[in-house]
Amino acid sequence: MRVEGVRGMRDILPEETPLWQRLEGEIRRTFSLYGYREIRVPIVERAELFSRGVGEETEVVEKQMYVFPDRKGLTLALRPEATASVVRAYVEHGLYAKGDLAKLYYLGAMFRYEKPQLGRQRQFHQYGVEAIGSGDPALDAEVMDLAWALMERLNLRREGLFLRVNSIGCREDRPPYREALRSYFSAHEGELCPECRRRLGTNPLRILDCKEEGCRAVARGAPRSVDHLCPDCHAHFAAVRGHLQELGLAHELDPSLVRGLDYYTRTVFELCSRDLGAQDALLGGGRYDGLVELLGGPPTPAVGFAGGMERLAIVVSSHGGAPLAPEAPIDLFLVPIGDEARREAPKLLAALRRRGISADTDYMGRSLRKAMGVAGRSARWAAILGGDELARGEIKLKDLASGSERTVSLSQFGTDPAAFLAGVA
Ligand code: HAM
Repeated sequence: MRVEGVRGMRDILPEETPLWQRLEGEIRRTFSLYGYREIRVPIVERAELFSRGVGEETEVVEKQMYVFPDRKGLTLALRPEATASVVRAYVEHGLYAKGDLAKLYYLGAMFRYEKPQLGRQRQFHQYGVEAIGSGDPALDAEVMDLAWALMERLNLRREGLFLRVNSIGCREDRPPYREALRSYFSAHEGELCPECRRRLGTNPLRILDCKEEGCRAVARGAPRSVDHLCPDCHAHFAAVRGHLQELGLAHELDPSLVRGLDYYTRTVFELCSRDLGAQDALLGGGRYDGLVELLGGPPTPAVGFAGGMERLAIVVSSHGGAPLAPEAPIDLFLVPIGDEARREAPKLLAALRRRGISADTDYMGRSLRKAMGVAGRSARWAAILGGDELARGEIKLKDLASGSERTVSLSQFGTDPAAFLAGVA
C-alpha cells in the first residue's frame, strides 16, 4: 500500500538540496558577519508559549497552529515561528544575566495549517535573527541592513525588491490607536467580512492585514499608526529612518503594515519581492520590546526578523539570483572488469574515500560501456581496473573532460590518489 506525504509538507529532493545548502551557507556566513550566533530550539513547545507570546487573537494561533496533547495530557504545539521559542530560551537560561546584547540566529522547520500555494506550505523553513537587549534605533536599521546584505550576497537585484517599514508604537500608544481604528471601522462595518466584524470587538488592528478585497479597500482609508505615536516612539522611528537613509537603504513607509503577530512594538518591516506574486514577503520582522517581560524575563527591548527559505529558493532560482550550482559530481567512478577486479574494488574505494576522494562504483552489473556512461555523467575521473592491469599491479585513470589517460601503480595510487589524479589532466 502506498502511503502519501501530508498536504503542504514537501520533500526537498536531491535536485534541490544543492541550492538549499548554498543558501544555508550564505545565510550562516552573513549572520556571522553581523555578530549572530546560532541557537537551536525545539520544534515542539508548550502551546501556551505561542498563545501568550504570539497572541490568542492572531490567525497563526487561532487557526493555523498544530496543537496536540502528549501522553500525559500536556498541550503541546509544533512551533509556528521561532521568536517566542528563542525568547523562552533567553529567559529560561538567564541569557540576560550577562547584561549584553544577545544576537541569536536560527534555521529550521516551522508549521502552520494554511492553504498551500506557491511560497506557502504547512511545513516551511525559516532563517531568522533575534537581537535581544537593546532599544537602539541603529539596531533596527542594522537588522534591515543585514536583510539587504543577504540578498546582495545572493545576487538578487535591488530593483526586484522593496522594503516596507512602519511603526506601530508602544504598549501605551496601542489603546488610543485601537480606539481610533474601532471608530473608523465601525462606520464601515457593513463593508467588512464577517471575520473582521468580529475583530472589530476583539482586535481591530488585525483588520488592517485582512486579505479580503472589501476589507482592504476600507483599510486604505484607516487611521495610520504613525499619526498616533507618543513623542518617544515618534523620535525612535525618525531615528530608524535616518539610519536607513545613511546606510543608503531605500524603503517605503507603509501605514497598512501591522504584521500578523501581536508581540510587535514600534518598528515593523517586510522585505518583499516583485517576483513572488500574492505571497510577496521574502522576510518580515520588527521590534518586540514587551515579549521578554511577557514571558517572565526582565523588561528587555528586542528586534529581529525571519524569512522563508522556500520563497528565497524560488526567487534565487528563477530571477536574477546566482546561478544554481550544478550538483557537485563525485571525483571518481571506479569501473572494475572481471571478478578479481570486482573483489579488489571495495578496498580501493574505501582507501580513496578515507583520503578525501569522493568515489563510487557500479552496483548494477553494467557492461563496461554502460559503466563508462555512468562515469561520464557523474564523475570527473574514471578508474578502470581490468584483469591485465590488476595482474601488473596497475590501474588506468582517465580524465573524463579531456579524455587523457594514464596507467599508474595501484598501490601508490591508493596511498596518494590526489597527486595521481592531478597528473592525468
Ligand atoms: P512571519 O511574517 O509570520 O514572521 O514569517 C516570516 C517569513 O516566513 C515570511 O515573510 C515568509 O517569508 C515566511 N513564511 C511564513 N509563513 C509561511 C508559510 N506558510 N510558507 C512559507 N513561508 C512562510 C515571523 O514568523 C516572525 N517570527 C519574524 C520575526 C522574528 N519577528 C521578529 N523576529
